[in-house]
Amino acid sequence: MIRFRSKSAQIPAHNVLICGASGELGAALARHYAARGGALMLWGRDGQRLEAAAQACRNAGARSVSTRQIDLTETDAAIAALATDDDAACFDLAIFAAGLGDIRTPGDLAEDPHMVARLGQVNFVAPAALASQLAGRMAARQRGGIVLIGSAAAFHALPFAAAYAGSKAGLARFAGALAIAMRPHGVRVTLASPGFIDTAAARRVPGPKPMAMSADRAAARIARAATHGTAHAVMPWPFALLRLIDRALPAFLRNRLLLSLTPPPEGR
Ligand SMILES: NC(=O)c1ccc[n+]([C@@H]2O[C@H](COP(=O)([O-])OP(=O)(O)OC[C@H]3O[C@@H](n4cnc5c(N)ncnc54)[C@H](OP(=O)(O)O)[C@@H]3O)[C@@H](O)[C@H]2O)c1
Repeated sequence: MIRFRSKSAQIPAHNVLICGASGELGAALARHYAARGGALMLWGRDGQRLEAAAQACRNAGARSVSTRQIDLTETDAAIAALATDDDAACFDLAIFAAGLGDIRTPGDLAEDPHMVARLGQVNFVAPAALASQLAGRMAARQRGGIVLIGSAAAFHALPFAAAYAGSKAGLARFAGALAIAMRPHGVRVTLASPGFIDTAAARRVPGPKPMAMSADRAAARIARAATHGTAHAVMPWPFALLRLIDRALPAFLRNRLLLSLTPPPEGR
């Protein structure tokens, strides 16, 4: 059983689904809940990485660990799988951490349409559909927590990463709306908006990564937000300030600033 620091308004995390557990942030979240004795269902696409994450959770003290290999671009199959897994486990916490990051290929005028479609599917369509499905089930049980992993990139109209920023912005709006709808039914929906997390996926995208957090640190902060049912957790906090600055700047200045952020081609 997981213990929490105070008794007020906290979401239990005994039966936890982590979607994207084969990734670095997802695996760190899985280890976090494993160390607190959670029963875990880990979803991932790559079988080897998923099994490595599962083994780390067994070593860390998880009560039980199950895995499911799944490709989120097959959304109907994922919806069916979630029904099966939730029937068996009755999740009290689900974290949707799977996601893709990419930017416009240097030299191209616009992003590759296939990449745009893939990012939309993995970063928005699948997590929104699955969160909606689970929200309905949790609402019927009158309890539960859902965490969607967005990005601070969603706060800005990044001209070199329109698909990433757009997919995460869509997820953010979805999370906010779902949180309002679910609250009367005892279900807390949290949007986590990290800045940079020092993972291999992030390192593949060129450019500076100020205030990058380790995956473990990001996971601890996300777990804290999940425990308290925080509606929106921005980490680290200066990214919340950048969001305000983005909103306050006149459009011509903001657009010039955003254009100047385009990563140099030689970084790829
Ligand atoms: N790293 C950062 O700086 C940063 C900042 C803000 C937000 N985020 C968000 O944090 C989350 C995790 O990022 P990360 O850096 O840990 O990346 P990562 O290590 O590449 O993990 C990404 C995860 O998404 C899964 N995934 C990708 N495409 C999939 C698909 N079609 N079907 C099923 N699963 C799929 C991967 O599965 P496989 O590995 O099995 O293919 C993996 O589990 C993402 O949502 C990302 O957008 C990251």
